[in-house]
Amino acid sequence: MKIRKYEIADTEQIVQLFYDTVHQVNIRDYTKAQVDAWAPTDINIEIWMKSLSSKLTFVAEDDGIIAGFGQLETNGHIDCFYCHKDFQIKGVGTQILEHIESKAKDLGINKIFTEASITAKPFFESHKFIVIKKQEVERRGQKFINFAMEKNI
Ligand SMILES: CC(C)(COP(=O)(O)OP(=O)(O)OC[C@H]1O[C@@H](n2cnc3c(N)ncnc32)[C@H](O)[C@@H]1OP(=O)(O)O)[C@@H](O)C(=O)NCCC(=O)NCCS
Repeated sequence: MKIRKYEIADTEQIVQLFYDTVHQVNIRDYTKAQVDAWAPTDINIEIWMKSLSSKLTFVAEDDGIIAGFGQLETNGHIDCFYCHKDFQIKGVGTQILEHIESKAKDLGINKIFTEASITAKPFFESHKFIVIKKQEVERRGQKFINFAMEKNI
C-alpha cells in the first residue's frame, strides 16, 4: 500500500469508491433516503475532478486499486475521507490520516479538523480527535447528524 497524491486518472475509481462506501458502509448509520442524497447516482465526474484537484487529495493505492482517499485543505480542514468498502478496518484510513497529519505539519498547520459521520467518529476518536459538537446538516433535502471534531498536532 502506498500513499500518493491524487492524479486525474484516479477520478473514476474514486467516484465509484465514494458511491459504494456510502451505500454499503455508511448505510449502517443512515437511512436509504440519506445515502441516496449523500451519494446520488447522477454523480458529475467533471465536478469531482475539479474538487479533487483543488485540494490536497491523497490516495492509498494497492497495486492499481485505490483503497481510500482523503483531502486536506490549507486551513487544516479534512474534507472527504473514505476507504473502499472492501478495505474497511484494515489500517488504510490510518495510513492516509498519518500522511495528512505529516503534510499538515510541513505546512505549519497546528490544528486539523473535520465533520465526521456517525460511521467515522470512532475512527477519528481512536486517532485522538475530540468532538467539538454534534450537529445536523442538510444535503439535497435530507438532514444528517455529524460531529465537528478536531485535533491539535
Ligand atoms: C472512517 C474510515 C475512513 C476509517 O478507515 P479504516 O481504514 O476503516 O480505519 P482503520 O482500519 O485505519 O482504523 C483505525 C482505528 O479506528 C477504529 N475504527 C475504524 N472504524 C471503526 C468503527 N466503525 N467502529 C469502531 N472503531 C473503528 C479501528 O478499530 C482502529 O482502532 P485501533 O487502531 O485502536 O485498533 C472508514 O471506516 C470509512 O470509509 N468509513 C465510511 C466513510 C465515512 O464515513 N467517511 C467519513 C466521511 S465524514
